[in-house]
Amino acid sequence: MIRVVFVCLGNICRSPTAEGIFRKLVNDAGLSHVIEVDSSGTSNWHEGGPPDERSTAVAKTRGIDLSLLKSRQAVADDFNHFDYVIAMDGSNHQKLLSLCPPGREDRLRLCLSFAPSVSLTDVPDPYYEDGFDAVFDMIESAGQGLLAEIQDTHNL
Ligand code: 4NP
Repeated sequence: MIRVVFVCLGNICRSPTAEGIFRKLVNDAGLSHVIEVDSSGTSNWHEGGPPDERSTAVAKTRGIDLSLLKSRQAVADDFNHFDYVIAMDGSNHQKLLSLCPPGREDRLRLCLSFAPSVSLTDVPDPYYEDGFDAVFDMIESAGQGLLAEIQDTHNL
């Protein structure tokens, strides 16, 4: 099994969106028996809660159901369980690095490094602003790039 976790701050906007998009890409590629997908947040602010309704609404218009997901905080052991720990922005990348057990740093990657057509480094935090559609689009682009890299690396 290849395991992927997407990590943002609250685990209610960007990373659940990424989990839903990537799970659909994996399913569409017929790889759901090989690739496991999850998401988490570097904070515990929304622990146990559902995704933000604005993220859920945008995902629904794209055929993706986020309504059953629940927020959980990232833990150091995620670096043992998941092969790919995908940070949604530089701030979360920093926090994850401080959690990361020695020798596991190569599992940590930035989401938009998989989306060369997007000219940003960080997926913008949409919580206090808007832009949920744009966030969806850039995460979708990164998801396609990540899946292609996994297929290439693991001969899938
Ligand atoms: P996320 O967005 O990290 O994409 O889930 C946020 C969600 C909640 C908060 C900030 C960002 N908050 O301040 O509660």
